[in-house]
Formats: sequence, C-alpha cells, structure tokens
Amino acid sequence: MPTRRAILGGLGAAGALALAGAGSRARAVPGLPEAPPVTGGVLHEIDLVAAETRGGILSRAAPSTPFWLYNGTPFETIRIRRGDTIRAHLKNRLSEHTAIHWHGIRVPNRMDGVQYITQPPVEPGEDFTYEFAPPDTGTFFFHSHCNTAGQIGRGLAGILIVEGDEPEPFDAEHVLVMKDWRLDEEGGWQPFYTAEGASRAGTFGQTRTVNGVEAFAASVPANGDVRLRILNVDPTRMIDLGIEGAEAWVIATDGNPVEPFPLHTWRMGTAMRADLHVRAPAAGGRFTVLDYFSATPWPLAVLTAEEKGIPLRPSAPRPLYRSHIPRIDPAAAKRVTFKFSASAGETAAITQGLPADDPLAMALLDSLCVGERGFWAINKQQWPSGDHRNLPPPLALLDDKASYVFDLQNDTPHPHPVHLHGQTFEVLSASRQDLPRFFADTVVVQPKERVEIGFVAAKGDWMFHCHILEHQENGMMGWLRVV
Ligand code: C2O
Ligand code: CU
Repeated sequence: MPTRRAILGGLGAAGALALAGAGSRARAVPGLPEAPPVTGGVLHEIDLVAAETRGGILSRAAPSTPFWLYNGTPFETIRIRRGDTIRAHLKNRLSEHTAIHWHGIRVPNRMDGVQYITQPPVEPGEDFTYEFAPPDTGTFFFHSHCNTAGQIGRGLAGILIVEGDEPEPFDAEHVLVMKDWRLDEEGGWQPFYTAEGASRAGTFGQTRTVNGVEAFAASVPANGDVRLRILNVDPTRMIDLGIEGAEAWVIATDGNPVEPFPLHTWRMGTAMRADLHVRAPAAGGRFTVLDYFSATPWPLAVLTAEEKGIPLRPSAPRPLYRSHIPRIDPAAAKRVTFKFSASAGETAAITQGLPADDPLAMALLDSLCVGERGFWAINKQQWPSGDHRNLPPPLALLDDKASYVFDLQNDTPHPHPVHLHGQTFEVLSASRQDLPRFFADTVVVQPKERVEIGFVAAKGDWMFHCHILEHQENGMMGWLRVV
C-alpha cells in the first residue's frame, strides 16, 4: 500500500489542500466536557529581558549571529494555569523600541502591546509591566508589534501555555515551535524585507527549524497518548500539517478546544497553532510530523516510541474541556465586509526615493514600524507608511458586546492569514476550504475566497491584519474601535 506521504506528495500542495479537513465534520464545542471551576489562582511574576544574544543557537548560525531573544532563550516559554495571573516586566535592552503583544489572549485592551494604539513604545533601556489573567486555556505566543518582521525574524518571540484543559493528563507532551531563519553564509542576517517578497507571498527563511533545531527528534512513550502543541511563529511560511506513522486528532485550534477530528492535513498560516492528540506507536516505532504544503513533504519532527510500560489500549480521541468564548447571536449579528486586496501603492517619504533594496533604505525601514510601500490594502485603506503615530481612521466602529459576522474577502492571488486582536472568533464558513466550525484568532483566507467569522466584540482599539509580516507592514493592517 502506498504511504500517505507518497499519495500526498504525488498530489502536491493542491491535492493536499483538497484533503484538508476531509472527514472532519466536526461539530463545534458544545459536545466537550465542562471544566470544574477554577480555584486558587497564582501570581507569576517574571522578567522578560529583550536583548541581543550572540551565538550559535542554530547549528547553522555563527558564534557572532546577533539573535534578539527574551531572556537569552529562543522561544522563552511561560506555563501557567487558567485562573493564574501573569505580571511580566518587559525590559527593553535592544537598540530600538519594542512592546509585547500577547497573541490570541483575550487581554484587557491596554495590555495588548501595540505601540501608539494601546501603549507608548518601550524605548531602549525602558521597562513596561503587563499584568492580566488569561481567561482561556491553550497554546499561545507573544511577540513585538513594531518592526515585527525584523524583531521576530531575529528570534524575538515567546510561548505562553495556559494549562487546565485536560480532563486526564496526557502521557507526554511536546511543544513544537516552527520558525525559519534568514541566515547568510557568514551567520549574519539577510534582509527581513524584500520588495519581491513583500509584494508576493513574503520573504522566506532558508534554514527551517523546529525548536531552533534543523532536524528535531525526541522520544515519546510507546502506546502513549501524546499531546503535541504545534506553533507556526514564522513571519511568512504557511504549512499543511500532517502526521505519518501514527493516529492523530486535532483537539484545539489556536489554543481553543474543538471536538476532536482526525488529522489529515491542517493548514496553518503564520501565527496559527494546533494541538494534536497522537497515539504513539509500539516500542521502536516512530512517527513524523510533516509539512505537506510544498510538493515534497518536509519532515518537521521525528518522534520515536520508547518502552515505558504503557499497555496497548484501544485508541480513542481525548477531548479537552470546552472553552467559554462568547458565541454570537446569529439573528442579531451585524455583517461587515472586509476586502483584502493589492493596492496601487503610495510610496511614503521615509526612504526619500531610495530604491527599496538600497542598504540605507533597508536600514531605515528596519528601524521603523512599517515598510515604505503599500502593496496591500484592507477595504482600499492602507496602513500609512511611516510611523504608528500617524494612525489612519479605524476600519470600523463596533459596539461593545454586540455580535458581528465579518465577511473576509480575498481579492488577491495569495493566501492571507488574517488575525484579529483581543477577540477569539468562530470560523463560520469558507467558500474554498472544507473546514469544520472552530474557534481561532487567525484564519487563512485562500485566494479569491470568502471566509465568515463571528465574534462578540470586546471594548477597545484592536489591530486587524494579515499575519504575513511583510504584508502587515506594507499596508494590509488596520484597526477597529469597539465602544
Ligand atoms: Cu500576532 Cu498583530 O499579531
Ligand atoms: Cu497577507
């Protein structure tokens, strides 16, 4: 029998896409068990020092490679339980301003970490304290919101795991963080922005890693029920997640529990997360986590089963506790249409007519919040070039606590992973993908596709943008005001 890899490899990306969600007629969350009430929250007081760290974090990197990291660690990971509070002291020891956006967490607006919108920029040498109690369990991450391509590109991203969603603990867990790197031959950085990439699918890294390792391998207990928390924190790359060599179910999307459905392939744009339940094979067996997006499937991680005394049991998916994301009132929901398009492009003055690939132009762009060119637009409005200080008007004014259906229309030939800050939405329909209903904070809208998302608006000023960072920084970004 041909393996699934052979079949999918033969079909290529288009075929793999057609399989995405096949067999995944998942009903949404109501079927999931109810968590017991949260008791006894703990305060986690932590420092997050954003600083340059030189050194060979990746096998390919030179000792001089200037990574930008939190606490000197690639993907610094914070683990708390639902009901706990985080008090995080950001200490900016970088050479430019930064802030921390807690991606996917329904934080109070002033903790959302967007310079000029929700807080002043944290200048070099300054500190800023974030404090909030995440209302939902799940797999999340955090990153800066200015010069995002340059800061995340150098490694400035961390992981936030909010536990408390497992009715019974899994036998093992691995967190798999996918990110590529744009290293040159000497271990320096290649430009994080290229006009070529920004105007198309984005500029890709050449060194593909999971957890900063080029061929990630680990062990799992044989016959065990394993939880994989998979995060795509790459600035650009989209993957079609699959597993070969073991039975696997999707149990959460962007951290939000979903009624488990078998994993065939699951498309993950940048910033998206998926939690899987995988039944590990017998001792000595192994399974591979793969990206089927490209014509040749790319192995992301290999997990080998080790004897740990777990007897073989019949396999069945293990649902997580249900989430408490507010659901829309469909009868009362107001519809708003957003068209994602290419734009004619107005060039701003910040690079003063220098060609986009001129080193000085690139240095200027790298030190500011956005690219010099609006290649992209939302409802024909571009995020203006220059600084976040010159805010465009909001894309929409929404009412606090009202139900909304956003009709996201992609008028471009590229897929866009569209992200909304501060609210978790339900993906209601997709015109070109066969998807179950699921909760998310970022959703891929395929070329010429319409995707409907529903959510109950929460007060504040919230960013709304494509999460391909060069698209975000070149026009495809806006904000919503909820009052
Ligand atoms: Cu991870 Cu504005 O986003
Ligand atoms: Cu995009």
